[in-house]
Amino acid sequence: MRQNLVAGNWKMNMTYQDGLALVSEITSMVADEVTAANAPQVVICPPFPLLHAIGRLLPQGSRFHLGAQNCHHKESGAFTGEVSAKMLASVGCEYVILGHSERRQYFREDDELLSQKLKAALAAGLKPIFCVGESLDTREADETFNFIGKQLQDGLFHLSNEEFDQVTIAYEPIWAIGTGKTASSAQAQEVHAFIRERIARAYDAKAALNTTILYGGSANAQNARELFSQPDVDGGLIGGASLKSRDFTDIIKSF
Ligand code: PGA
Repeated sequence: MRQNLVAGNWKMNMTYQDGLALVSEITSMVADEVTAANAPQVVICPPFPLLHAIGRLLPQGSRFHLGAQNCHHKESGAFTGEVSAKMLASVGCEYVILGHSERRQYFREDDELLSQKLKAALAAGLKPIFCVGESLDTREADETFNFIGKQLQDGLFHLSNEEFDQVTIAYEPIWAIGTGKTASSAQAQEVHAFIRERIARAYDAKAALNTTILYGGSANAQNARELFSQPDVDGGLIGGASLKSRDFTDIIKSF
């Protein structure tokens, strides 16, 4: 279902104590300040060791949801150091980020592996937040649409209609992640509209209209309102600015 949504991707930041303190601040600031009827759902994605404790701090039945940053593609077994989708669901996760460019780049996750991860997440009842996005070289070579079209085709569009219904897409241009360089709202809108058009082609017009598509890459309290006002931008996947309660709450208020 299409909805306004803001997800905080903490990446490999925050100790247990710091993470709990941050979430307590965010939930109380949001309870005090967020009143708009179109205010977003909020997904908090901390590192694995913090998930369970943070999940317990999120008010039940509220706009807050718990998400993980990755999962393994197998259900269980001899995979030392890995965490399965089923384990994530068992500690209260509803969402999982898959295909983040940092995982694609540093952990060599390719479309084939990501297809398996998507299946594993969906089988465990998790909602994937599937990331796509081009590098600066790709953009400068005028290959952005080809590149993202291929990521969608090879990584995502193998899902059935029912499975695809559970997916949120995040457009995260690699050149904008953690760099302070945000895509302009027009650049974001253009790619989001392209993604929606590709969904309509792969599934149907209804699926395209119903998909939540987030923007990520140096989104912050200053630029969020302009980005979120674009017709095909339904919210954000926020890295750096999700680690500060004031900034993150202001982003949540930007609808
Ligand atoms: P950033 O990260 O907001 O720090 O650029 C976004 C992301 O990588 O999800």
